Amino acid sequence: MEQLERSWRAEFPITERLIYLNNCSLTPLHRRGRERIERFASEWTEWGGRAWYDHWIAEYEALRADLARVLGASPDEVAIEPNVSAGLVGIASTFDYGRRPRVIVSDLDFPTDGHAFLAVADRGARVEFVRSPDHVRVPLELFEHAVDERTAAVCTGHVYFTTGWIQDVRALAEICHRKGAALIVDAYQSIGAFPFDVVASGVDYLVGGTLKWLMGGPGIAFLYARRDVAERARPSAVGWWGVQDPFSFDVEHLAYGTGARRFEYGTPSVAAIYAARAGLSLLDEVGIDTVRDRHMRLSQRLVDGALDQGWTVRCPRDAAERTPIVTLEHPDPAGAVSALRAGGVICDNRPGLIRLSPHYFNTLEEMDRTLEVLAPLRAAPAIA
Ligand SMILES: Cc1ncc(COP(=O)(O)O)c(C=O)c1O
Repeated sequence: MEQLERSWRAEFPITERLIYLNNCSLTPLHRRGRERIERFASEWTEWGGRAWYDHWIAEYEALRADLARVLGASPDEVAIEPNVSAGLVGIASTFDYGRRPRVIVSDLDFPTDGHAFLAVADRGARVEFVRSPDHVRVPLELFEHAVDERTAAVCTGHVYFTTGWIQDVRALAEICHRKGAALIVDAYQSIGAFPFDVVASGVDYLVGGTLKWLMGGPGIAFLYARRDVAERARPSAVGWWGVQDPFSFDVEHLAYGTGARRFEYGTPSVAAIYAARAGLSLLDEVGIDTVRDRHMRLSQRLVDGALDQGWTVRCPRDAAERTPIVTLEHPDPAGAVSALRAGGVICDNRPGLIRLSPHYFNTLEEMDRTLEVLAPLRAAPAIA
């Protein structure tokens, strides 16, 4: 067996029973996350609403500080959101589409990246899609051609959810800013997968969450707004937690909160805060460089093995170009995913694709076993 830190696998009970390769969708619950959720339940049981003051508000602010550290941002630049969609709705509510109606999204983006702007068509927003020529990447030139002085924003992924390809968001920010447009990055698939400094990237907004590489489970997402961008923003999608002093209970005036806080809505899910902080502490311990190194080695083993078996691979072949999202074309991906499940491998499907995504705690032996289960599932090539 490959030499691994024993504690890595010990944190994830699921690894005793199954090969878990659905980490780019939802990482499994770890022991410390479960303990923290149980602690939340005890506090709730013992103190009811008093726990807000004695525990939960402090946890909420500690989570903001944790997220800021992961991003390389300052806490005032980070809003805590219930999910990425809510964050994008807030951002989409800030633009003057009368002056700049165009919003550029790519056809590889996650649906919510387009929907948040399609939904403000009645305010003048016009969403235009750049189309990936190879269904894997979107060349920068396509964005360069698309962005003009009538463009409010580009909203696109840092890493595409079906291909794992890593986009150069710094170059994209330069393209946008040259024309006075904003860059909004959906980083759900990137943060926690490789080192990234949001301030150095120059992006205006960035959204992500804790379901995936950050190992914190559902119910918590984040919105980064660069300090100057945040202070100028006047979102029309608001909530009482996003104001200057929520506990003044002033119904008659809207005083936006400091920095990115103005993008927050209402009462957060406290259990989710506890789980999220536990996931972030795991990442802290393992270290992002180690995670990236493991991702590259594990996913390359899968890609090379799949290519040897004759699969058509949708993700980039070179690990340096992608996160560990490995996608294989298949005419019946849901059926193939069920067959993999019967063989002890948990993964997922997206239209036309089997999607496998290891995390640092997986082993090379698990990749080899997965390839054995995959081998008989490859569809016979169509006869011309
Ligand atoms: C790139 C990307 N954006 C957004 C989401 C989901 O956003 P939300 O938090 O709104 O469910 C996902 C996956 O669930 C994703 O992969």
